[in-house]
Amino acid sequence: MGVNPVSTSEMPAETLLKIIFDYASKIAHENDLDTLHILMADMGKKLTMADRCTLWIADPANQKLWSKIAHGMNRIEIPIHTGLVGAAYQSGEIISISDAYEDERFNREVDRSSGYRTKSILCIPIRNMDQEVIGVYQAVNKQSYPPVFTEKDETYLSLAATYTGQSMEKAILYSELIESQKEIIYMMGTIGESRSAETGKHVKRVASYAYILAKGAGLSEEEARLIELASPMHDIGKVSIPDAILNKPGKLTDEEFDVMKQHTETGHRIFRNSKRKILQTAAIIARQHHEKWDGTGYPDGLKGKDIHLYGRIVALADVFDALGTKRPYKRPWTNDEITDLIRREKGKHFDPFIVEVFFENLPEFIRISEQYADSP
Ligand code: C2E
Ligand code: SIN
Ligand code: SIN
Ligand code: FE
Ligand code: FE
Repeated sequence: MGVNPVSTSEMPAETLLKIIFDYASKIAHENDLDTLHILMADMGKKLTMADRCTLWIADPANQKLWSKIAHGMNRIEIPIHTGLVGAAYQSGEIISISDAYEDERFNREVDRSSGYRTKSILCIPIRNMDQEVIGVYQAVNKQSYPPVFTEKDETYLSLAATYTGQSMEKAILYSELIESQKEIIYMMGTIGESRSAETGKHVKRVASYAYILAKGAGLSEEEARLIELASPMHDIGKVSIPDAILNKPGKLTDEEFDVMKQHTETGHRIFRNSKRKILQTAAIIARQHHEKWDGTGYPDGLKGKDIHLYGRIVALADVFDALGTKRPYKRPWTNDEITDLIRREKGKHFDPFIVEVFFENLPEFIRISEQYADSP
């Protein structure tokens, strides 16, 4: 082509087309909001030769614009009226500036806290099919000479915004569906615990531990998420246990413990007829989370790998959490007491491999137990 793309502020048409083709099909098939987000930001960065490109999504109910910079990281948020991004969102107009510091709308706080120096900046509103502004594309610091965004950049990024606004709306709706599904699941899980002194935090912690163990055991992200979603419901069968047993301050008699044991089969019965993957997973977990590796557990006395991997994972997650928490019948154990027991029960109560995964991830377990500790 004979043109060095870095020395000019415009790129050859072939390069441009290639970028668009590469990303368009990926974006069209992506339902995961995080992945989509990162793909779109990457595409914007390449299209405009920017040093950084951020995709902000409006959350009008909370008066925020939020973004994801990388996978796994938490969302970052800015107030919906803040800075140049906020101005583009409010006005629905493109903002292109060669030196952000000469514009009073620019929020210097962002640079101040990150040590970054913003010069040129391009903000493009993103609209949905109803032409409502749902977000803003923000490209920062053009990597060319002269280091300013051109009208072509505006055109390209606007085109990208139009094209992807639709995918994004679809993904936002989809992620809201997932989020409400999650909330319902946590609420259901809490029902199982609510009559005892346990709180909703117990089910959230168990979900996080189960996810870590599932990933550590080599399961895919998708399957690990499935276990994370289903594990909060492991004790839902406790709804049918009488208060006198569930909240008994002392040790249960053998008869009482027999009643208690029914929570596994009750939970299984609640879910077993569902065709939904999450609920089928929940059925397995409800039934098998008190099985033991050496065959001495309940309700079926299964042994070793006859116990479903999901059951073996949640068994450890549940006991780790139960021991660290105050119950009507016991004080919370220290981390040392808990890890001693888990080490002792390797190959007895617990799958030895899952115990190894547990110890590899112990710091993360402790971090979660502290972050989501029950309020006293
Ligand atoms: P949970 O309180 O959620 O406890 C889950 C599992 O954690 C228990 O399953 C057990 O494997 C482990 N665990 C909890 N506390 C201790 C402990 O102090 N020592 C040891 N070694 N392990 C502990 P498990 O035993 O099958 O019990 C199932 C459920 O039955 C418990 O769920 C709890 O709701 C109830 N339960 C068990 N024992 C008693 C008891 O002595 N008194 C009362 N009130 N309830 C009990
Ligand atoms: C950047 O980090 O991309 C510039 C500041 C901002 O995104 O708000
Ligand atoms: C912000 O102001 O927080 C983002 C950066 C910008 O709008 O220029
Ligand atoms: Fe249980
Ligand atoms: Fe539990």
